[in-house]
Amino acid sequence: MNEKVYIPPIKIQGIKTKLVPLIKDNVLLEKDTIWVEPFMGSGVVGFNIQPNKAIFADTNPHIINFYNSIKENHIDSYMVRNFLEIEGKKLEKKDDEYYYEVRERFNAYHSSLDFLFLNRCCFNGMIRFNKEYKFNVPYGHKPQRFSKAYITKIVNQVKYVEQMIHTSDWEFICQDFEDTIMSVSFQKAFIYCDPPYIGRYVDYYDSWDLKSEERLKELLAKNDNPFMLSTWDYNQYRKNEYIDTLWGFCRKINKEHFYFIGANETNRNQMMEALLVNYPLNMAQNYYSTINEQLKLCIN
Ligand SMILES: C[S@@+](CC[C@H](N)C(=O)[O-])C[C@H]1O[C@@H](n2cnc3c(N)ncnc32)[C@H](O)[C@@H]1O
Repeated sequence: MNEKVYIPPIKIQGIKTKLVPLIKDNVLLEKDTIWVEPFMGSGVVGFNIQPNKAIFADTNPHIINFYNSIKENHIDSYMVRNFLEIEGKKLEKKDDEYYYEVRERFNAYHSSLDFLFLNRCCFNGMIRFNKEYKFNVPYGHKPQRFSKAYITKIVNQVKYVEQMIHTSDWEFICQDFEDTIMSVSFQKAFIYCDPPYIGRYVDYYDSWDLKSEERLKELLAKNDNPFMLSTWDYNQYRKNEYIDTLWGFCRKINKEHFYFIGANETNRNQMMEALLVNYPLNMAQNYYSTINEQLKLCIN
């Protein structure tokens, strides 16, 4: 059966939409467990898990500001529709000139609505910042991007998350993964980690090296809570050696997944994804069948 996956309004490279069903089937979550996502990115994983209580964190302040703006009622789905209708018309008229005007405006004032606009009409829905903290993704060259149907789709994505945020106990925090993981050392939590893959995407908020990976492993290994780590296993050229070395104490679940990250075909490689967990997998299946009943929420 194909399970419906809710798609969030902000896109990001490395978004785990296709892995959501597999992740859902293998998490270890009880009613009073805090869902902790130190690398939230688009938030697609936690937003589909629908925990009662959650900490969503990321070092990218614009993602966190976007969701806090919804939480604090500074923006809502009505405002989003209005904004995209007006800005979409300007884009249609002035094309790339208008995209770069909004990009400049965003880099000066950091409005969450401008962030959403740019994210939905930039090249490939990417998020990338330079050393001066400036959003520098080029235009996606679709002046008619904000059609009525496309705006409605985005508005529905905002509505869903708005409803979840206002009926759950969810926090959005801009901080490094170390602070997030350490903050739940003495609480009952499930930690889902999806860090940048070493050497794949690098920008000001999104760089990752062996030292970061080692630190993550150290923190997760000494935290008593169950965790799941998303990482890559292999592609046709290389194998992720850290799975057997650094993460050798974990159990592994695999899934093939396509990444569309580049303009040219050679960058679009098939990648075997891995989920690593520190608990026996049969435990997850038992837990999930119970929790699944409690967490059902209608996704329209
Ligand atoms: C691969 S993306 C997460 C994708 C997300 N799971 C999804 O499906 O949309 C990695 C995220 O980690 C964030 N990040 C990078 N370094 C970080 C750090 N040191 N601490 C916390 N977040 C970090 C990036 O800003 C990015 O949003």
